Amino acid sequence: GKVVPWEGACSDVVSPLFAADGSRIVIGRQAVFTPEASMAAVEAAARSWARGRGEWAQKSMEQRIAAVELAVHRLKERRSQIVEVLQWEICKNDADAAKEFDRTMEYIAASIAQLRAAESTGVVCDGGVHAILRRSPVGVMMNLGPMNYPFNETYATLIPALLCGNSVVMKIPNLGGLAHVLTMEVYAECFPKGVVNFVAGRGRDTMPPIMRSGKVDLFAFIGSSKAADSLIREHPQPHRLRSLLSLDGKNLGIVLPDADVGVAVKECLAGSTAFNGQRCTAIKLIMLHESIADDFCRRFSDAIAALPAGPPFGQSAITPLPEPEKPKYLAELVDDATSKGAKVINERGGETDRTLVFPAVLYPVTKEMRAFHEEQFGPLVAIGKYSDIEEVLQHLADVHFGQQVALFTSSAAQGSHQLSHILDSCALATCRVNINAQCQRGPDSFPFAGRKSSALGTISVSEVLRAVSVETMVASKSHAETWG
Ligand code: G3H
Repeated sequence: GKVVPWEGACSDVVSPLFAADGSRIVIGRQAVFTPEASMAAVEAAARSWARGRGEWAQKSMEQRIAAVELAVHRLKERRSQIVEVLQWEICKNDADAAKEFDRTMEYIAASIAQLRAAESTGVVCDGGVHAILRRSPVGVMMNLGPMNYPFNETYATLIPALLCGNSVVMKIPNLGGLAHVLTMEVYAECFPKGVVNFVAGRGRDTMPPIMRSGKVDLFAFIGSSKAADSLIREHPQPHRLRSLLSLDGKNLGIVLPDADVGVAVKECLAGSTAFNGQRCTAIKLIMLHESIADDFCRRFSDAIAALPAGPPFGQSAITPLPEPEKPKYLAELVDDATSKGAKVINERGGETDRTLVFPAVLYPVTKEMRAFHEEQFGPLVAIGKYSDIEEVLQHLADVHFGQQVALFTSSAAQGSHQLSHILDSCALATCRVNINAQCQRGPDSFPFAGRKSSALGTISVSEVLRAVSVETMVASKSHAETWG
């Protein structure tokens, strides 16, 4: 294929960073698709899929792997540009931006290895029936990635979908989308015409017509559950739409009275402030047993005050925020909590310099406050306290989030009855309990999932390959010799 030049409207992409004279910095341009242009993208994908008779769907697994490996090679040639654009556009620091790229390449390599391993063992025999199993494509995937991992989390579903023979439409994220603008020509070079298609612009304009068209068979979405629900409702047969969703989270750090407070502080600090707390897996509410609360808060507020803040080029832990409305929202949460009795307990807490917001640590946060319930997705740490662990476990069971918990205790190895009750309760309300460690998605071979409004389906190397394909077989009563 080739990149079709965009002749319609464009908008400036403005960095959260400022020039020395205080002016805004325009770092690129992004297309603003009309509903008609969005429809053209999904129609191109549907034509290339051609109900399974398209060129890409009919290629062998090894032919598809070769195309993806060429794309990986081309992406690696652009590594420094992609890393730099992530820094200018969403302000990941050096280490986080590099990790986003490298982790993605490792994920693709692992997906290829997994696909080959599944194919080589895909022969079964039972009751005299021999079968060759294969993962075959579903059809057209609509893919929407998030602002905080615009490259990595888009690719986590898009590349497996391509490896399995699907055609795709990628809605470029409004924030963090320039990395994709830089890489469009890679897709044009490596894949047949119509297999990879792009849509850019506001989701509310571009997405409803695509979803209503009935041409989307697979929906991969990482973002808010509200947006996911409203898009799925647009599909003519929502119950038939295969969806892979990674959505909201309000992960709890729970510190038990016997915890090593030093470990809990270190892990909760990393878990709540990495990339300014803009991770669905961030620890967004820390619940402390009252017996260790003062000690934890003193150490935590000292540790957070020492975090370097500034531009993302270097080791700054706290960097400017890409979402323009976020500083105002965070200030509202702080005002609400402080008007109801919480205090900002750290130096510089909540200090704002244009797009840079130093995290406010709010304590004690209670159920009456918005910071207790809302997913702040930014630099704000909400800390509450409890006297009876059952209150915390009941809260976990009741909330509509259900992703992960970070549980701090020194008695994990002893396996008491009380601890197994706590672990069971956490595990029944979420999908992962991290003992003495922050919450996180990785390693990427592990299942990343969520209950309630946090997710649908599981993201991991092997599970995504399953989600984007149909297990298909050729079965025979005599020995099934070969297939393809
Ligand atoms: O924002 C949600 C991401 O899946 C978090 O991934 O835990 O590797 O930072 P992470």
